Amino acid sequence: MTKQTHVGRRDFVKLVGSAGLLAAAGGSIAKGADAPKAEAAAGPAKPLIRGTPAVFAPTADSVCIVWTVNGAARGWVEYGADPENLNLRSGGDAMGYTPHDERVLKVRLKGLAAGTRYWWRAASIALAPGSAKAGSQNPPPEPPPVYTAVYSFTTLAPSAAETSFVMWNDTHQNLPTIKRLSALTAGEGARQVDFLVWNGDITQRNNNEADLIPDTYVHPAGVVDLAKGPPIFLTRGNHDVRGVWANKVVDYVDFPDTHEGGVARPFYAFRSGPLGAIVLDTGEDKPDRHSSFRGLVSFEPLIEEQARWLEKVIERPEIKNAPVKVVFCHIPLRWTDEKPQDYFAKPAGFDRFSKRGRDAWHASLVKWGVRVIISAHVHRWVHIPANAEFPYAQITGGGPEKERARLVRGHVTSSGLKLTACDLDGKELAAVTF
Ligand SMILES: [Fe+2]
Repeated sequence: MTKQTHVGRRDFVKLVGSAGLLAAAGGSIAKGADAPKAEAAAGPAKPLIRGTPAVFAPTADSVCIVWTVNGAARGWVEYGADPENLNLRSGGDAMGYTPHDERVLKVRLKGLAAGTRYWWRAASIALAPGSAKAGSQNPPPEPPPVYTAVYSFTTLAPSAAETSFVMWNDTHQNLPTIKRLSALTAGEGARQVDFLVWNGDITQRNNNEADLIPDTYVHPAGVVDLAKGPPIFLTRGNHDVRGVWANKVVDYVDFPDTHEGGVARPFYAFRSGPLGAIVLDTGEDKPDRHSSFRGLVSFEPLIEEQARWLEKVIERPEIKNAPVKVVFCHIPLRWTDEKPQDYFAKPAGFDRFSKRGRDAWHASLVKWGVRVIISAHVHRWVHIPANAEFPYAQITGGGPEKERARLVRGHVTSSGLKLTACDLDGKELAAVTF
């Protein structure tokens, strides 16, 4: 699969050659005639593991670990319930391979115990040059593995009496804001935060897979270590799905696997203590046929598919019987000013709320009994209470700039949900109970 911005996997080893691969591995080779030239072209050797890893899409019995690499490598995750004994090791994938790639490695740990803390580290070994020759009986020796730091995560606990979470939204690659949100999240202290909802518009657009996606979704600008925080539930915003290589983001993140055939989708449901959560994908903020999308998007069928999926998922016992029911989605389903937009004017109008999504999903959401839709997109904290027409409240979080950014905290017991919003100095500015 050849990409516009980089050398395809099939041609990678052939074109980069042994000097480049060992440079990526941090190793050294006897210099041939072409080696100095190759090293000059490659620049200084980069570490094999690029940046820090991240943990996505926890369930009661699994999580997904993602890390990125500077060059072709294979990898695995060592883990265990005892920090001194990482005695378990991830296995192969659905096709019988161990993870290997030139950019990103992704491992879902399965068969875990609910509500249990596990320690883990990821490991990678650079693929030796001869590895590309399929069937070689005498492969060259491998370099030693390279490891990440040791981290921990806790699986979801569906039967817990309460649950807590935080939401970041519309970070739009604003590094100072992401750093503060990360610090505030880490500063939760003894109170456990079970998960982070990164509620979309993490980027501006995805036109550059090689550099922007890893540095945005896995290790923001190389300085925020997401793996130190709670596991991440990602919802896609309109900016995340925009750009020529937006379809590659899924290689670097993960969603819980709750669909027939084992296919991960960007919409899903989960249970954490008394909270039943449904995550919906509102897609773009204009119709699919809008010329700015260059024919690359098809979200209207995805919204219809989610409508059919919703009818079923609200009958799943742990979702149906959850004491507190919440939806997370990037574009709100209600707004303070719902006048129609002219998408084809200049400048183009765009959705402040997703009428397409609401029209498709409203009936099932009301039948389910959702209390609040927690969204993003409009870059300011707003609370629209439930009313007779819409028996669910709408919350939107803050924006990317320091003045508008908000850390939203949620605490759920069997009797209700409390949401608070604080600014980047940690000052609580709003609180609402549902
Ligand atoms: Fe945004």
